[in-house]
Amino acid sequence: MNIQLTYSISIDEFLEMVKSVGWKTYSKEQVEKALNHTMYMVKATVDGRLAGIGRVVGDYSIVCVLTDICVKPEYQRKGIGLKITLELKRLIEENVACGEKMRIELTPTAGNEAFYERAGFKYNPDKITGMYLWIKK
Ligand SMILES: CC(C)(COP(=O)(O)OP(=O)(O)OC[C@H]1O[C@@H](n2cnc3c(N)ncnc32)[C@H](O)[C@@H]1OP(=O)(O)O)[C@@H](O)C(=O)NCCC(=O)NCCS
Repeated sequence: MNIQLTYSISIDEFLEMVKSVGWKTYSKEQVEKALNHTMYMVKATVDGRLAGIGRVVGDYSIVCVLTDICVKPEYQRKGIGLKITLELKRLIEENVACGEKMRIELTPTAGNEAFYERAGFKYNPDKITGMYLWIKK
């Protein structure tokens, strides 16, 4: 299996991925704006076919959020999600200056905590539990 990582995601690829895992969808305009304001993004292809994506948004200094990590069902459990996540982590690390620190946050979908632990993230529900709120108009 030839897994390749690249650093851009088109609007259509983003929408294709979101649809493949059954997440809420967005207008093309909204996705374009989101991608334009993304700190880092990674796309995985397998033999040239779109298999997974992930991105990081944030303030480039103190905090960032790992988001939209998803792998098409037919490509799951083959190490692709981990590869994407570790590459995003590497890109963040590369841009933290000596003596500085930056926090990466994420809100795992239920059942995927172990996946992120595998990528080095801390899961400590006695101390911190993630929360979220959708604003809809
Ligand atoms: C979660 C997701 C991104 C994982 O991607 P993936 O490519 O299937 O995961 P990988 O094959 O890279 O798994 C890496 C490791 O995590 C483990 N793992 C993956 N998913 C897991 C899960 N749900 N529970 C426990 N372990 C898991 C794998 O067994 C593997 O461990 P190993 O290397 O010791 O064998 C993928 O299942 C997905 O896209 N799910 C739907 C969308 C989603 O919920 N995304 C997360 C948003 S927060």
